[in-house]
Amino acid sequence: MKFFIDTANLDEIKEAASLGILDGVTTNPSLMAKVGISGREQILEHYKKICEIVPGDVSAEVISTDFNGMIQEAEELASLAPNIVVKIPMIKEGLKAIKYLNEKGIKTNCTLIFSPGQALLAAKAGATYVSPFIGRLDDISTDGMQLIADIRLIFDNYGFPTEILAASIRHPMHIIESARIGADVVTTPLKPLLALLNHPLTDKGLAKFLEDYNKANR
Ligand code: E4P
Repeated sequence: MKFFIDTANLDEIKEAASLGILDGVTTNPSLMAKVGISGREQILEHYKKICEIVPGDVSAEVISTDFNGMIQEAEELASLAPNIVVKIPMIKEGLKAIKYLNEKGIKTNCTLIFSPGQALLAAKAGATYVSPFIGRLDDISTDGMQLIADIRLIFDNYGFPTEILAASIRHPMHIIESARIGADVVTTPLKPLLALLNHPLTDKGLAKFLEDYNKANR
């Protein structure tokens, strides 16, 4: 299972990378805005900085919604660094763009996936990744994990090479359940990732080991 960090915050990306278990990064226009990055030039520079920190796949999202605009942006983004993956929204024009970019050898991440049918279309068009949004489905009282399970079943039925990138992660159990179902990748904010480290018995056990060592080595 690959671990991606879902942020445009360079400090958080560096912290996750320092753990030695980071495989990539996902961003979106909201995450870029959150860290105060705006304007085409600044955005492109920021992607370059992220790609210098993390050698794995870095998703950079287009903001065009028409085929020609998406292709133009995708080619510009892909030229920034060899590890850029172009994030394309799951709309009709996006589907055509994924097909085109796949034929050109440019990796894509089809974003805003909320149904198995959308994932199937993206896989058929040759998307490198599909990003089902678990948390946003949970937010509207729909089972986000069931979507991951449905896509896993469909992709395995036909041997689609498209990787399932579980996105919109809210808490550590989303990561565990994604792993249980067999998502290929999980993209998570730093907090749920770090939360995986925690167990009170680990803290208690370590404190006792150190206490016993210190008593014996006074
Ligand atoms: C990642 O690719 C998505 O853009 C992201 O996970 C969305 O998460 P959110 O629902 O917390 O905004």
